[in-house]
Formats: sequence, structure tokens, C-alpha cells
Amino acid sequence: MKIFKWICSTIFLVVAVSFFSCDAPKKSTSIEDRNFNKDWLFSKGSFDEGASIDFDDSGWRKLNLPHDWAIEGPFDSIYNARTGGLPVHGEGWYRKHFSIAKENKDKQISIEFDGAMNEAKVWLNGHYVGERPYGYIGFELDLTKHIKFDEDNVIAVQLTPKDLAARWYSGAGIYRNVRLKINEAIHIPQYGTFVTTPEVSKEKALINIETKIANFSRIVSEVLLKTEVKNAKGDVVAENSSTIKVDKESTENIKLTVNTPELWDITSPTLYEAISTVTVDGNVVDRYTTNFGIRTIEFDRNKGFLLNGNSVELNGVCMHHDQGPLGAAINFRAKQRQMQIMQSMGVNALRTSHNPPSPEILKACDELGIVVIVEAFDEWKIGKVKNGYNKYFDEWHETDLRDMIKRDRNHPSVIMWSIGNEILEQAKADGWKLTKHLNDICHDEDNTRPTTIGFNHFPAPFINKLAEQVDIVGMNYWPEQYKSILEKNPDMIVYGSETSSLTSSRGVYHLPIEFTQKHETTHVSSYDVIVGPPWAYAPDVEFDAQAKEPRSLGEFIWTGFDYLGEPTPYGGRDNSTNGYWNDDWPARSSYFAPVDLCGFPKDRYYLYQSQWTTKPMVHVLPHWNWEDKEGEKIPVFAYTNAEEVELFVNGKSYGKKAKGKDLTEIPSEYHDFERGMYKSKYRLSWDVPYQPGTLKVVAYKKGKEVAAKEIKTAGAPAKVKLIADRTLINADGNDLSFVTVRIEDADGNICPVADNLVNFNIEGEGILAAVGNGDQTSLASFQAHNRKAFNGLCMLVVKSTEKAGEITITATSDKLKPESITVQTK
Ligand code: GAL
Repeated sequence: MKIFKWICSTIFLVVAVSFFSCDAPKKSTSIEDRNFNKDWLFSKGSFDEGASIDFDDSGWRKLNLPHDWAIEGPFDSIYNARTGGLPVHGEGWYRKHFSIAKENKDKQISIEFDGAMNEAKVWLNGHYVGERPYGYIGFELDLTKHIKFDEDNVIAVQLTPKDLAARWYSGAGIYRNVRLKINEAIHIPQYGTFVTTPEVSKEKALINIETKIANFSRIVSEVLLKTEVKNAKGDVVAENSSTIKVDKESTENIKLTVNTPELWDITSPTLYEAISTVTVDGNVVDRYTTNFGIRTIEFDRNKGFLLNGNSVELNGVCMHHDQGPLGAAINFRAKQRQMQIMQSMGVNALRTSHNPPSPEILKACDELGIVVIVEAFDEWKIGKVKNGYNKYFDEWHETDLRDMIKRDRNHPSVIMWSIGNEILEQAKADGWKLTKHLNDICHDEDNTRPTTIGFNHFPAPFINKLAEQVDIVGMNYWPEQYKSILEKNPDMIVYGSETSSLTSSRGVYHLPIEFTQKHETTHVSSYDVIVGPPWAYAPDVEFDAQAKEPRSLGEFIWTGFDYLGEPTPYGGRDNSTNGYWNDDWPARSSYFAPVDLCGFPKDRYYLYQSQWTTKPMVHVLPHWNWEDKEGEKIPVFAYTNAEEVELFVNGKSYGKKAKGKDLTEIPSEYHDFERGMYKSKYRLSWDVPYQPGTLKVVAYKKGKEVAAKEIKTAGAPAKVKLIADRTLINADGNDLSFVTVRIEDADGNICPVADNLVNFNIEGEGILAAVGNGDQTSLASFQAHNRKAFNGLCMLVVKSTEKAGEITITATSDKLKPESITVQTK
């Protein structure tokens, strides 16, 4: 029997100045990690002298990072719909002027990028200092040699992202955070700590903090390294120190014991902080803070995934990195909100498909209690798109993979390293060699977590021995194969690394229920039966497969949020040509998720909630505005986690149905047992003649009402309603308030097919960050001061300035009653 026991804990190079900020920490007085996001100059285009210190950049646009030039648009069919129909390729330059005081002349000075899209090349004062082609990986470059003290310095960054470098929207620009690091000659370098917990019990946790110390002074020095561990309240709960002789670099293991540790868990994600202080000759030269958690992870062939000894079924989502209308420019609050919405659906796991994540998403998962599979690559040597990672693979894969692990291995949320998604080497007889090589790199950097791959070419990876090379076998779209794989391979542990891929558009219902791949509206019906790519299947099929095979660790649905690009089932499958994906233009973003691009739940969100949550809930669909269908039968579906549901139309009961017994009826010619939702036991349905009024569902457990939901036929649109997700945000120039905009009738009912244009005015200490409506076919700008509603809803995102005060948001729309709300910033 195969059991992986990975007892570890984690850190991450911290960060939290305040809850919503992801700036690097202020170190001691002599050492500094400077937020380097402000006051950059930017221009698109090619500049022969762009790296030169004398280059005239006075006409360039001034902006703050993170920045994604592609999200600014415009959408155009000259760009590929596969990558969002936005300008993700081209050439762009960023320059920043800065000065450093002479007193820093003996310091080590470097610049750290959390990621730049794509093919970054960096110069300081005209001197080339380094490059990093993979846009998803963080990198640090030493600037010390070329810094001019008390004078103007110029950092220049050239980015040359290519068309079809990914199968989704990548964004373009310096889209993650940047820091300038000023260190003493002796300091803890980048990714300098690795926290593990070799022993964890209720009574105590043994903690090992492997700490690197770099010495650029050319003198062997005696260094005092002291490490304190603080609990969530800030009390020091353990400390230890060691004296070390450091030549160029030394590694020291600091061992500590935390008594009665509070474990990091999905229900109580407790974090600790380790503060490593480096002292030379009585002077503190570095102070390095690391967040970590104490927990155990185990993967057991029979019991599945165990967190702190308890079995946890992985109710996971795959997610790309974009933040919908906000594009790729990283924002902690945007990431945190995405994961909170996922958690409300019952999600407890994330797969960062198909690339290294931002530090912000892992911080959000650490704090929320969501476990993560961190994925490195979508391609190895064999490419999937014209300009994919395969071009850099030979030269960069080892550095990229090692850096990813070194950066992320301290996060308690991270439970597995994925070395690839649907890599084409699966089909090669010698593909196992590369798999083994990558697997070994992971274990070399971190022996506390297992490796995995999302395989899709059944049965090639088993025949070609790739599956044997990784610790845990991810299966993309193979629910019917879990059992046979487990039976044929007595040592394997499996899970659904990618599941369902069903598609839908929020609030869209095509009647009668359709089962075709495409619809002339380029939308997809939210009855959520079989409409999607050929490999897609309804969520119900996976629920059933997971229930029948409890040895599977769980599933990761494709995807949690709709994302920009890949508008399947519209577009095409040809990856190498530019035009083919635009056949169904303006379809330009994905339909896959239970939540739309703005984060508004589709009906499918409630289907997952009905399986993945326990707080009583019931949901009913479709909407109840079918003016031209009076008397016609309308299929009504209900999703619940209770036992029975009763449907009422205008107070008249259409009877109770019991979950698991009274089944959804779908015309038999469409039944597809393997892939479809044939007689799904996870949904309840009625056919009811339409009459305007009230549609109500009541859910019962043991005969007692536990939840109810009512929707009404809405009258004509009469007013705009604004609902902010947070009315108090930080005045840090970064924090966001997401405002839901509803088109309502005179009685406050949502108008479910309204598409009114809403205009926004923002006054006070905030700016418009984005607008959106979740319509996958809209070509309107995400940065306009207006937005049409899509099926009754649109969204406005406002960002704080750095001054505390009030943001007043006013929404107006022709013939509708306007609304104003205020958001405080502090
Ligand atoms: C998978 C692939 C994903 C996405 C998905 C769409 O095969 O791994 O990246 O393309 O299909 O269904």
C-alpha cells in the first residue's frame, strides 16, 4: 500500500504590512525592501536606444505597477480570441528613474520582479543586467555593480510577448509587484529560509528552519543568527540561535519546539511567523520575516488526502491567473475575493493551472484555508501553441522549476507540485525520462510534498511509464477510468486533476433544452446539460464517479471562474493559426465556470454548493419572465443539499421530489451514460406551464423546512441598485470595492433579461478600476465609465487612493431611478 507522509510547514517571505497589502516587509534600519511599483514610464513600441540612460523618455506615459497593457484593449478580431481578443503581444518598454544615497555604497542592491509578461530583458544605466523569458516566474537581478550613488539611475525593461504564447489570456506587461532590495553585504538572500516541521503532535511541533546567509564582504565573518517564532497574537513562542562562520554562503538549520501548536487547517488556517535576525559584531545586519503554518499532510491510497490526520475530499477548482475585467495586473483583494467566492461554493482546493502563481494567491489561500497544487508548466519540449514555453524549455526549465519551489515551499496551503498539464510527451515512448528528471528536481528542492501531473491521453502515460514517475496521478476528464487505473496499478494514488469542462452563460436559458455544441447567439444555456467541448460532461457525472471511487482524492473542476480567452465551444481547436479561433467572434472569453468573469454565480454554482456544502440551501432555475410562453411547459430545476424540495407556482404546489430518488427527466435520445447527466440524481425537476407570478422552492430535511427561495416575474426596469461588497476599504492606493449593479423593477425584483446601459460617476478618494458584466461576447472596454447590464447585472470596481476619505459612486441610466452609495477609505 502506498502512503506518502509529508509532514511539513511553511513560510513565505513576508509580506503583510497590513491585511490587504502585499508589500515586502520593512527590514531593520540599515536594510530595506523598497516597494518599487511607483512612477514608472511606459511606452509600447520598439526603441533601439530604450535601454540607454540618455534616452528621452519625457513623452512616455507615467504609471504605477503592476500594469497589464493588454486589458486596456481595445478588443479586436485582429487578435486571437483564444488569448482573449486583446493585444497580448507586441513590444513594450518600462523605464524608472531613481536615486540611491551614497551611504548605501557598501550595500548589495538588487531588483526583484514577481513576474513580467513576457521575455523580460533588464538594463541598469545602459548596462544589461539579465533576462527572464517565462512571464509567470519571479526573478531577482543584482544591480550593485552599476548603481550610481546620489545621481539619476535608470532601470529599463523591455518585454516582447509573442502572439499565441499560451492557450489563454496571459496579459502583457510588468503585471506583478516589483521591489528594490538594499541589503548589507551579509544578509539572508532571496528564498533564504525553508521551514519544515519534522514532528507534529498535539503536545508539540519540532520546527526546522534551514536558513541561508550570503556574504559579499570578501571577509570570513562570524555571524549570530537568532530565530524567534511568533504565534498569531504576536507572542514569541520559541526561539533559538546559532553562531556561524560565513565565507561566501552558509546554510544553518535552526531547530525550535513550539508547544501545543495551533495547526493550520482548512477550518482554522492559523499562521505563525519566524523572524530571523542576523547580527555581526553586535550590529543587526538583517531581519528576515517568514510566515508559516504547522500541519501534516498524507496521501493514502485507501483513505485519500489527510490533513492533520483527518480525511479531506478535495473539492477543487482549476484557475487561470486573470482577474476578469481587472486583467492580469495582480491585486491581492481581487485574488482574495475570487477565493472567497470559491469557498462559498464549497471549494477547499485550487490548482494553479497551468503555471506558477502570484505570491498573492498563495497568501490568500494560506489565510483562507484552501489547499493548493502549484503547477509549473503547460508544455515541456513539445509545444502546443506557436510561441509556447517549449521555446525556452531547454535553457530555463530547471531554473524556473527550482525557483518556483524555493519561493512557494513554505506556504502551508501548498500540498503538491504539478510538473505539467497534458504534456505532449505522454505519447512518447521515452517521455518518462523527462518526467523523472523534473520529478527529481522537485524532490531535491522539497522532500515534504508529492509531485503530480494532469494526464489526459489515456492510456498512453501508463503504457509509456510516465505515470509511474510522479507520486500522485492526476487524471483530466477520465471519471470512468479511476477504478480500472487503481485496480491495474496497486501502488497508484489518483484524483481528477481536471473535470467537467461544461459551459454556460449566466442567466441564459434556451428552450426547449438543447444538447447541441453551439448556439447561434454564441451563448450557452444555463440548464447545464451537455453543451461544451466533446470531452465535457456535466458535474453530476463526476459527483457520481467520486462517490463510487472514494479512493480518489477528489476533483478539480475546469474552472472556478470564467477567464479571458479560450471561448470553447466557440472558436476552434487549431492552435497554430491566427484566425481560426475567431470564427465565432465576438466570443472572446471562456464559458466553463460556475461563476462568470465578474464573479456572479451561474446556476451551476448552486449545483456544486448542493454537493459541497452542508448549510441548508436550495436554488431554483430558470428565471420567471417568459412573457411569450404563457401556458407553455417550462422545465424547472432545483438544486439542494437537503432531502426533498417542493415547488410552488403562485402558491400552488407541484409536489415534493426527493433528491436521489425522483430524477431529472431528459429526453432519452440525448442520454449518454458515460458523459451526460442521464437521470441525474443530483437535480430535481418539474415541467410547469408558465404563468407570471411567483416561483418558489422549499427544501425539507426529515419533513422540516430548512431552506426556501422565491423568484418573481419582474416588471419593467425601474431603478439601478448598487451593492458594494465592502463599504470600508484601506486607503492604500490598492484596495478595491466590488460594486454589484442590479437593474430592478419598481418592487425591487431583479429584471433577469435587462440590458440597460448604466453610467458611472466616481467622486472623492477613489478611481474606477474596471467595469464588466460577465457577457463572454461583449467587446465594450473594461475601463469605460459605463456598462450595459447582461441579464440584469453588471459590475463596477473602484480602487482607493492613498488618502483616507470617502468615495461617492453614482449610477444613472436612461429612464431609470439613479442610485448613489459611499465607500469609506481608511
Ligand atoms: C483541457 C486543458 C485546459 C483547457 C480545458 C478546456 O484539456 O488542460 O487548459 O483547455 O481542456 O476544456
